[in-house]
Amino acid sequence: MDHTAHSPRTGTTVGLVIAVDGTSGSGKSSTSRGVATRLGLRYLDTGAMFRAMTWWLLREGVDVHDAVAVARRCGEPDILSGTDPQAPTITVDGVDVAVEIRGDAVNAAVSPVSAVPEVRRRLLELQRVVIEQETRTGGIVVEGRDIGSVVAPDAPVKVYLSADPEARAVRRAAEQGVSDLAATQESLLARDRIDSGRATAPLVMADGAVHIDTTPYSLEEVIALVVDLVADAEARA
Ligand code: DC
Repeated sequence: MDHTAHSPRTGTTVGLVIAVDGTSGSGKSSTSRGVATRLGLRYLDTGAMFRAMTWWLLREGVDVHDAVAVARRCGEPDILSGTDPQAPTITVDGVDVAVEIRGDAVNAAVSPVSAVPEVRRRLLELQRVVIEQETRTGGIVVEGRDIGSVVAPDAPVKVYLSADPEARAVRRAAEQGVSDLAATQESLLARDRIDSGRATAPLVMADGAVHIDTTPYSLEEVIALVVDLVADAEARA
């Protein structure tokens, strides 16, 4: 990877990948989009891709707890991610599913779907194509669970975000406009258990990742911390 060329468009390093991993509700999306916007980079939400796959499987009537059935069908949907950090998009076979993928049905089914190795392999290919395309002319912030460990292990900046369960539930409930904090927290923790315990590409802190516990910080403060890490990495390159 060439860390010396700079994009005439943004001034940032061409080929720069910033990997942002962490638990649900730790502030990954807001932080990643904020950093990408500040630095003129593109943005990829890999969680949205797993959600889009899950939405499609549910719509097709596939039993999401039947790993064999999921594996058999997961090559079929055409999943496309738009990478503008201020207006990210996600479509399945040309249908905009941005709203549907945040619903309860997908929330409840996405972790078992994400644990199926064939699903991960398929989405890894799609993720690498986007990263390859976007880093040819600039850089990209990629958020997920296995970005620093599997998707982009050579990323020069890796961040692992966490937050206390109570803080995460408050943030997620506010985002989704729901009032049952206990249920929101239980749903987050249930997904954490599956995401961290699965055999293939579990949620882990990648080698070289900087851990930021976002609980005491505002969003702007976390964005500033990550922007500083990028500046440090660029100064070292
Ligand atoms: O970030 P999110 O909550 O939208 O992610 C939804 C689910 O997708 C999450 O429970 C685990 C899975 N996921 C994954 O397994 N690997 C990724 N790189 C991103 C998300």
